[in-house]
Amino acid sequence: MKHRKRSWLLKLLVLVLVAACLAWLLAVWLNRVGDAQAQMSVAVTPELIEQGAYLARVGDCVACHTAREGGKAFAGGLGIASPIGTLYSTNITPDKRTGIGGWTYGEFERALRRGVGHDGSALYPAMPYPSYAKVTDADTQALYAYFMQGVPAVEQANKANAVPWPLSIRWPLAYWRALFAPAPTPETPASEPRDIARGAYLVQGLGHCGSCHTPRALTLQEKALDERSPVYLSGTQLNGWNVPALRGLPHWSTQELVDYLGTGRNAKAAVAGEMTDVILHSTSHMSDTDLQAMAAYLKSLAPTDTVSGQDNEARSAQTAAKLTAAKDLTLGERLYLDNCNACHFVSGRGAEQVFPRLDGATVVNAQSPQALIQVILQGASTPSTARAPSVLPMPGFAKRLDDQEVAELASFLRQGWSNQAAAVSADEVREIRQAISAKP
Ligand code: HEC
Ligand code: HEC
Ligand code: HEC
Repeated sequence: MKHRKRSWLLKLLVLVLVAACLAWLLAVWLNRVGDAQAQMSVAVTPELIEQGAYLARVGDCVACHTAREGGKAFAGGLGIASPIGTLYSTNITPDKRTGIGGWTYGEFERALRRGVGHDGSALYPAMPYPSYAKVTDADTQALYAYFMQGVPAVEQANKANAVPWPLSIRWPLAYWRALFAPAPTPETPASEPRDIARGAYLVQGLGHCGSCHTPRALTLQEKALDERSPVYLSGTQLNGWNVPALRGLPHWSTQELVDYLGTGRNAKAAVAGEMTDVILHSTSHMSDTDLQAMAAYLKSLAPTDTVSGQDNEARSAQTAAKLTAAKDLTLGERLYLDNCNACHFVSGRGAEQVFPRLDGATVVNAQSPQALIQVILQGASTPSTARAPSVLPMPGFAKRLDDQEVAELASFLRQGWSNQAAAVSADEVREIRQAISAKP
């Protein structure tokens, strides 16, 4: 009896081992993509290196491959939080020993566009290779030329990831990669107008805008990588922060979008949160032509908004009419007329280039009302930059309005005109007021 049980266990163990070996072999086979021995097909010239430097800006490689405190550019070591633990970006300077100086063009191409590392194992998708799969051969070669010959070599060993065993076993990643990362596709002549095609290429590819602006599935892949799906760039949450949809951006003109990406501000809004770094390291360095192309592409996408544009227009007109008639006003509406109307007007549309719009504004409709409450209490002003003229500052109302009044006013803003967001409570206002006064 005992003997029988033991042989049964032994069989099970052998079976599990064989299955694991087969799964591992299949993983190795799945990672056999690209050609590690491939060579550049063009000569490296100073122009090619310069083009590569520009493309590295577009791809924002520096943001992830540089440690925060005094880190050397591209030498890696930045900790990136992931559901399984902290991952560290790697040294991609041309140092032969600790960087990628010894890599062939084929190995670089394979890592960038297919997510397979030097030793043939799959990379964590913290490296946005599902987006970079869109990068053309010509641009990949320019990037390689820049990283080999335009970036100073830095000797700095890679940090081991802080991922506990058995999650740290890398080969199962091959399955994620095979399932969710697209293969690079040969270039085909675009059917859209030239600028929209160029914009799509930048936004979907090196720009990897979807990595923050597209919702992710449970298995962590972006739910869509291009406009064939209406969830692409439909907005999501990131570390508790609202990431807005980029589809159509009906509240902004093309020029306002270009201004925002080039300077971090436009006539209607100013940037905050993780987008600040994207603008600082990446989009503010892009040419006007490329910014125009990205804006043209984003404007060409159908907005996700479930409320149709016509309904929005009708609701906006209703609020404006009620404020104009000034009869049977709620407390929120009255506070708006008394304190805000002089600059933002009954239309909630402010004045172009001077007073930002509140009807449809991202900050007003954000899931968390924190930024809106802060603006009402403290006012706002953005520094002037070379590319954009300065606007007037907005005064703060912390002294004039109590918590209940700010809550009523903010609730009106979030539900007036075409806005549709949850009401705000006096408790939420009190917490933010206390946090502000606690700051030195
Ligand atoms: C959002 C963050 C992020 C961005 C942006 C990013 N990377 Fe990475 N990259 C990573 C992480 C994290 C790894 C390590 C992945 C791993 O260990 O599996 C990595 C790995 C790599 C590797 C493999 C290096 C090695 O030693 O195995 C290369 C090559 C690389 N990145 C190049 C680039 C280039 C070129 C760009 C810009 C076009 C770029 N990366 C942009 C996060 C990023
Ligand atoms: C690291 C994450 C991240 C990446 C990558 C990213 N964004 Fe953003 N983006 C954000 C966040 C967060 C906000 C919200 C900013 C705020 O609250 O002020 C934002 C806001 C925006 C807005 C303002 C929209 C509005 O209605 O207010 C635009 C436009 C935008 N991003 C465009 C882009 C483009 C184009 C790219 C690619 C080149 C991109 N973003 C890449 C995180 C990101
Ligand atoms: C004296 C004119 C003036 C008054 C009065 C005023 N604002 Fe403003 N408001 C501005 C200006 C100018 C800005 C842009 C500030 C900047 O550069 O960030 C602004 C910005 C804002 C923003 C941020 C918009 C965005 O997209 O970033 C909100 C929200 C806002 N105001 C709400 C209010 C409310 C609510 C009141 C009444 C309690 C009010 N404002 C009163 C001039 C005014």
